[in-house]
Amino acid sequence: MKYDFDRIATPRGIGSVKWEHRKGDNGLEAWDATEEKGGKRQVLPMWVADMDFAIAEPIRRALEARAKIPSLGYTARTEAYLSAVTAWMQRRHGWSIEKDWIATVSGVVPAINVLVRSFTRPGDGVIVQPPIYHPFYSVIENNDARVVRNPLRLVDGRYEMDFPDLEAKASDPAVKMLLLCSPHNPVGRVWSETELGRLGEICNRHGVLVVADELHADLMLYESVFTPYAALGRAFADNAIVCSAASKTFSLAGMHTAHIITPSPALREQVAAGLQKAAMFGMNPFGAAAVQAAYDEGEEWLEQVLAYIQGNMDFMAGFLAEKLPQIRMIKPEATYLAWLDCRALGLDKAQLEELMLHKAGLYLDEGYIFGEEGAGFERINVACPRYILEDALQRLADAAAP
Ligand SMILES: Cc1ncc(COP(=O)(O)O)c(C=O)c1O
Repeated sequence: MKYDFDRIATPRGIGSVKWEHRKGDNGLEAWDATEEKGGKRQVLPMWVADMDFAIAEPIRRALEARAKIPSLGYTARTEAYLSAVTAWMQRRHGWSIEKDWIATVSGVVPAINVLVRSFTRPGDGVIVQPPIYHPFYSVIENNDARVVRNPLRLVDGRYEMDFPDLEAKASDPAVKMLLLCSPHNPVGRVWSETELGRLGEICNRHGVLVVADELHADLMLYESVFTPYAALGRAFADNAIVCSAASKTFSLAGMHTAHIITPSPALREQVAAGLQKAAMFGMNPFGAAAVQAAYDEGEEWLEQVLAYIQGNMDFMAGFLAEKLPQIRMIKPEATYLAWLDCRALGLDKAQLEELMLHKAGLYLDEGYIFGEEGAGFERINVACPRYILEDALQRLADAAAP
């Protein structure tokens, strides 16, 4: 089946976070985007990581079939569900996992929250690699652990890990965990086997547990190849806990269904105890149906959506190079999120925000929310119809014109 990605699947009035809300001081606040421009022109929301596209047809059909069953009691994963997950990891990533390694949870952030709580004590250090997906900071701080920064380095337009700094940070005995974002949000890197191996050797040497957030693993662009961290070898798997989901891959974030995958029996026991303590158990029956259908039958849609997203990335790169060279796009190797280096515009935080929201009418994620290293950058979500992206870029070019 040929999918149509040139249309937005989200009507107003369904409570969409992306289209009907924005970030407020105390979490999300409802927002009619049209008000920002006096109703003349709608603000384009290109922030939170949801796609605008209709979900894959097999998922829609599975949900429809599930809705016909008038029973919505407590639900647990079935053998068929677990087979769908293990087969996906094998087929797409060459990673052999056992069904009993998998714990189902309501999301990757709630999962990381439980892991930080379960594997650190107050004051312990947790390494992150900024600029980084901003909830990593809050899950550490909310659990009374300490953020230890190992900033990425931007070298010739590509981000790299700083291994000497990582070694120095990991060697502190109070540092107990590293939150790895692989592929990396927001900079779009797909870490190579060599990079992951170096990181893992450092962490293993210093007894630092690696929690790998692999949520964007399926969203490979430009023939990048994803390396599952725990597939690097036994020593790595024994010191790793992986968080994964179909939610970014198939735009199912509202289904609140994700996985913690733990190869080591000893760590698995601790994960299970942590989940019990947090009263996290069971599944959403619609999430179960959607994820199983996605993994069993969603590949055709995924291939097409990735080609469309890559087309959007190419379009944006070409547009910026030609019409707006002051903004430099860091070429993503994965994800539908692009990291835009706007520092050459010479604007401070407030001025850049003003330019994006009030002059251009674009609601993006400000780079500084990913850490101070992100100041002067913007994160843009291009999982949208091409005409929206064209509109957004033209607005930006007009707003930035001298
Ligand atoms: C790296 C990363 N981790 C976690 C999440 C959120 O996951 P969940 O909605 O399952 O909590 C996101 C969402 O965009 C993300 O980019």
